[in-house]
Amino acid sequence: MTLSFLEIQNLRNLSAVKIELSPQFNLFYGANGSGKTSLLESIHYLFLARSFRTRFNKRLVNYQSNSFSIFGKIQSPHLAKTISVGLERHVNGEVKVRIDRTDAKSILEITKLLPIRLLYSESRLLLTGPSKLRRQLIDWGVFHVEHQFLQDWQHARRALKQRNMVLRNKTGRGMAKVWENELVQYSEKLNLLRKTYVELFQIVFMRVVSKLLPDIDISIHYKPGWNEEIGLLLAWEQTWQRDLELGYTQHGPHRADLVIRVNKTMAVQDVLSQGQQKLLVYGLYLTQGILLRQQTDKRCIYLLDDLPAEVDGKNKKSFAAMLPKIGGQIFLKSVDEAELSLLLGNHSAAMFHVEQGRVTIT
Ligand SMILES: Nc1ncnc2c1ncn2[C@@H]1O[C@H](COP(=O)(O)OP(=O)(O)OP(=O)(O)O)[C@@H](O)[C@H]1O
Ligand SMILES: [Mg+2]
Repeated sequence: MTLSFLEIQNLRNLSAVKIELSPQFNLFYGANGSGKTSLLESIHYLFLARSFRTRFNKRLVNYQSNSFSIFGKIQSPHLAKTISVGLERHVNGEVKVRIDRTDAKSILEITKLLPIRLLYSESRLLLTGPSKLRRQLIDWGVFHVEHQFLQDWQHARRALKQRNMVLRNKTGRGMAKVWENELVQYSEKLNLLRKTYVELFQIVFMRVVSKLLPDIDISIHYKPGWNEEIGLLLAWEQTWQRDLELGYTQHGPHRADLVIRVNKTMAVQDVLSQGQQKLLVYGLYLTQGILLRQQTDKRCIYLLDDLPAEVDGKNKKSFAAMLPKIGGQIFLKSVDEAELSLLLGNHSAAMFHVEQGRVTIT
């Protein structure tokens, strides 16, 4: 499935955009402030109902308007049919999500259709930021393959919340055990799904990283969030007093992580250069697209908001050379048309010029 058509109204400086898209490469060039990132932001918003630049949704509404809307057509290569998806958001917070002109219950119905991966200026946080970001990386992969995952994850989250409430309100060990019995079931389910995903991920990742960072020994391994030899029930028993003092649960699937090391023991941020860290992040996201394609018939949308300055020309080229192989639909932007043409080589692409909020195919 790919996004074949996009229409945007009143999102930031994009007051009226209508474009037919290529199923492979879509390149956007234009001056600073012309609207390139806003265009990628619109696609991100259509599938996830949130921006990657701000948590204040009303910032996205054009200064002259009270609402913005994004509409897309999703094309399946097998079926002749297209699915139309739309999202409209008012400054007062009202949101309407539609699939084939029918109101959708939640944005997740659109999220499920087309997996999105974003690479932008903050992507390096995946290596240096909180474990939540790396958990999200794993969970993205599991979510798009295992239908059961979301429900299990929601159950685990609910049981964890209840246990934390018992800890804060000090309502007693007995009450906590009721929730522990539920939490342990879902934690183990999540753990198995995550572990299986990372095992497959590792195999593809090693191949990808050997191309992007050929001289560096990078390893990744999965940490479940508790000591599996002891088991969760015993871990909670042992840490009950400390959990009570802290007012939250220390062990569980909410502490899972992906540990990434150089030469087996060194943290990546301690040794790798800025450009190498960026390439490593690219490698992690590319791996997900390749794996997704192996596991499902889904193709991933990649939103690439500028290949950063720290990555030199040779590395940009080796990254660009991998893009066609992942079989995803790529949205790439740059201030420089010549750079885009160079990166793309002889692959066919739709090229768009963005100029003061107007987008024209060139
Ligand atoms: N709510 C809004 N209404 C109208 N214009 C806005 C709104 N929010 C931001 N803008 C403006 O929209 C323009 C689009 O910015 P955008 O970040 O998309 O540019 P860009 O093409 O990615 O630029 P760069 O090359 O510098 O990254 C900017 O000029 C910005 O000031
Ligand atoms: Mg930008």
